Amino acid sequence: MLRLGVNIDHVATIRNARGTPWPDPLRAARLAEQAGADGITAHLREDRRHITDADIDALMRELRLPLNLEMAATAEMQAIALRHRPHAVCIVPEKREERTTEGGLDVAGQETRMADFIAPLRDAGSRVSLFIGHEPAQIQAAARIGAAVVELHTGAYCDFDTEGDTARRDAELTGLRDGAALAADLGLEVHAGHGLTFATVGPIAAIPQIAELNIGHFLIAESVFTGLDQAIRQMRRCMDEARS
Ligand code: PXP
Repeated sequence: MLRLGVNIDHVATIRNARGTPWPDPLRAARLAEQAGADGITAHLREDRRHITDADIDALMRELRLPLNLEMAATAEMQAIALRHRPHAVCIVPEKREERTTEGGLDVAGQETRMADFIAPLRDAGSRVSLFIGHEPAQIQAAARIGAAVVELHTGAYCDFDTEGDTARRDAELTGLRDGAALAADLGLEVHAGHGLTFATVGPIAAIPQIAELNIGHFLIAESVFTGLDQAIRQMRRCMDEARS
């Protein structure tokens, strides 16, 4: 079955806007579990703009679901991941000035550095995932350096859909389908995520090689109107319908 990882970063964004203890990301994670999430994703950014070190401590201590820790390839983040040994570590590119993770990681352009970076994480027992675009060169590099997982960036596909640019959206979708097939052929587990909504999740969920989707911002946005439980359950239904 296609797994759903719920990204709780933006519960922390709302909390941090006022410096209060609420809304609590851990409470959101527990609710996500009840609503049928298979895992929780949290991005500890270098500037701690949403998730904090204390959130990661609490999630590791209290959460029953597997935690997918997203982080940049820095020495500080590597040390944090090695201390916690989460179920999965997803390496993402990070720029301080960006609003969100804008593109995929350039694995092909820094293969030796990335291989050296992920080796201790893998040895510590975390499943290492690389957040990349669907370009074959990136997928092949991820396989060569021994990543367990690639997470394919669906942001451009979603943006073109929102803009009504169906030609470019469909071209992205073809790229994602081909990328997922290539990654699976190379023995990689395939995940996908970024920007997914009820409207855009179907064609991605239908890609047979994809084992997991990580979805956050839209679920938190939707929960303002319907509650998190209902938002997650509806996303789950969209995914299941696309798969069946
Ligand atoms: N996957 C990765 C690697 C991400 O960096 C993000 C955003 O933090 C997501 C999935 C979730 O994206 P969104 O919040 O747009 O659903």
